[in-house]
Amino acid sequence: MNIDILVATTSGNTEYLADQIAEQLQHAGFTTSLHYEPDYSDLLEALRQSNEETFWLCCIASHGAGEYADSMLDFAEQMHAEKPQLDELNFTVIAVGDSCYDTFCSAGRDCDALLDKLHAKRAIERLEIDMATEDPEEKAAEWLPKLITWLNNKQS
Ligand SMILES: Cc1cc2nc3c(=O)[nH]c(=O)nc-3n(C[C@H](O)[C@H](O)[C@H](O)COP(=O)(O)O)c2cc1C
Repeated sequence: MNIDILVATTSGNTEYLADQIAEQLQHAGFTTSLHYEPDYSDLLEALRQSNEETFWLCCIASHGAGEYADSMLDFAEQMHAEKPQLDELNFTVIAVGDSCYDTFCSAGRDCDALLDKLHAKRAIERLEIDMATEDPEEKAAEWLPKLITWLNNKQS
């Protein structure tokens, strides 16, 4: 199964994390497509055209007052405006933030809730990473085996 990795980043931390995760998924035998500036029309078109399961791994940093980081602002706006039905989509979310903010991980939480509301299937529970206290690569490495198990079960 191909994994589309959607990246919301402003200053690059989440892009770096997404690159590491893509490498680990490739080692586990999956193909990955990294979307550093996810394009709403392209991704929806690919989803509609695909005749196999589609998986989005959304790696979302919060910025502003809990807004999506720059690279996914347009995408998020369009998703909220268009509300596409996503029954054929599987997903999970890595939410990146900093617990100094009241709006900790708000964008990642919004993405998770929105995809669920649009009828996409949540594969495993969201990972939240607190950049103030946690090592992002370490946290992701602890969580990733759960995702790989889910993907392997789906394929078998
Ligand atoms: C101006 C600014 C606003 C931020 N706002 C939030 C926020 O509302 N909620 C949160 O959890 N983290 C917030 N953060 C923390 C970022 O999510 C964190 O620094 C993250 O590593 C940025 O990822 P990026 O480098 O991929 O953009 C903010 C950071 C900055 C610099």
